[in-house]
Amino acid sequence: PVLVVDYGAQYAQLIARRVREANVYSEIVPHTWSTEKILQRNPAALILSGGPASVYAPGAPQRDAELFEAGVPVLGICYGFQIMANALGGTVERTGVREYGATAASTSGDGVGTILDGTPDVQTVWMSHGDSVTAAPEGFTTLATTEGVPVAAFENRERRLYGVQWHPEVKHSAYGQKILENFLFEGAQLTPTWSTGNIIEEQVAAIRAQVGDGKALCGLSGGVDSAVAAALVQRAIGDRLTCVLVDHGLMRQDEVAQVEKDYVAATGIKLHVAREQDRFLAALKGVTDPETKRKNIGREFIRAFEAAEQKVLSDEAQDGQPVRFLVQGTLYPDVVESGGGEGAANIKSHHNVGGLPEDLQFELVEPLRALFKDEVRAVGRELGLPENIVGRQPFPGPGLGIRIIGEVTEERLDILRRADAIAREELTRAGLDDDVWQMPVVLLADVHSVGVQGDGRTYGHPVVLRPVSSEDAMTADWSRLPSELLARMSNRITNEVEEINRVVLDVTSKPPGTIEWE
Ligand code: XMP
Repeated sequence: PVLVVDYGAQYAQLIARRVREANVYSEIVPHTWSTEKILQRNPAALILSGGPASVYAPGAPQRDAELFEAGVPVLGICYGFQIMANALGGTVERTGVREYGATAASTSGDGVGTILDGTPDVQTVWMSHGDSVTAAPEGFTTLATTEGVPVAAFENRERRLYGVQWHPEVKHSAYGQKILENFLFEGAQLTPTWSTGNIIEEQVAAIRAQVGDGKALCGLSGGVDSAVAAALVQRAIGDRLTCVLVDHGLMRQDEVAQVEKDYVAATGIKLHVAREQDRFLAALKGVTDPETKRKNIGREFIRAFEAAEQKVLSDEAQDGQPVRFLVQGTLYPDVVESGGGEGAANIKSHHNVGGLPEDLQFELVEPLRALFKDEVRAVGRELGLPENIVGRQPFPGPGLGIRIIGEVTEERLDILRRADAIAREELTRAGLDDDVWQMPVVLLADVHSVGVQGDGRTYGHPVVLRPVSSEDAMTADWSRLPSELLARMSNRITNEVEEINRVVLDVTSKPPGTIEWE
């Protein structure tokens, strides 16, 4: 693999994704790994990520020259670039010039070298640094400068060492992907062979090897991850997989029906739906505090899932073959966040993955452990899953329960469901599903405002549209949807959902606002 050494900002995952987008397999390893340990993994190339430290600050992560002398091609990015400069005898200083955001980088007189090949002489790059490289190490060519930084990119082609001060992995760097690909294909001479087709074949074989002739159980949440994980396992072991879906009554319009119908039709999966709306409504009666809502929904979810699970387990045990495996849709970002890609994953404590009774000893099957979300979607499409499942936006486990501000009742759920369905339909029709990470629609159920409709005065509720763009939900910005689209959503919602007489747009980034309102 190409190993991305994570120096601690949020960029490592983005880098790994961009490398995979170039059809090269990559993994993230923590910067605390020794050079020896990194080299033992036999990397085809290394990328050192950005990070928040100053290379000369006491205790800052460092790297000795050994890593750069192993003959493995290396690309240093931002802090990784400075680490490389520092390790090989260049100069890194706090010059007083700090660059944040879009900056113009110009190629220096020494030529574009390998990594800037095919990019213009002046290009927009995304910077985020306080320290600067003021002198490249001996034997290195300076490839680019900015107004404030004398060495913004360098290379030593012979030793296959490259570095850029800016962040080629973010979309704001105009030629970022080109630069990464130059490194992978010219600098490191790799071939692009990683594809979703391979993933399916590999995973089906791995699942068969793990499960043998055993039986497995999978909790479906209605979301993409569990749907794709289950479909992969079903492809590997067929009817020996049983899925359980708890319908908590807090799903969006037609969501459960789509899973029951389209998804089952596409996969042939064995599905048990536990209809538990009443249990959840009862647990939410009179509750307005967001944390109490979450806690109550979580608690009931575990109970409902366990009950359904017990039923499936006892049915399946009839033939003397108990269920021993549990399928989880754990993704690579969860694995990285919980300690760096080695050893057993933590079982997600989120209730939408299903709580496990403690006395049940399941062995976990996690076929998506190496994948990012966009790759999971690609695998799902390749497996023939319906678009209304694969293209689904992230949806919180507690569902519409945390999108009704105020008490959750059946009537309010019905109002919100209708408004939400209209907003999503219009977004899809405008072809903007891929530009928007997620668009919660929030019902301010305890707020009334005066309106006028026809000749009459109305006294209805507002809904909030919360479209956001994001890479990973950790940070987000509000999406600048076209105003005609917003107008259409607003018109249709207020016309078709009688109880709503006002539609407002949330224009807050995260931070400070979270994506959900509760
Ligand atoms: P916030 O509101 O914290 O949301 O900005 C970040 C992302 O997480 C989703 N979310 C949840 N997902 N269980 C989940 O599975 C939850 O309890 C939960 N709360 C928030 C949210 O939709 C967004 O994608």
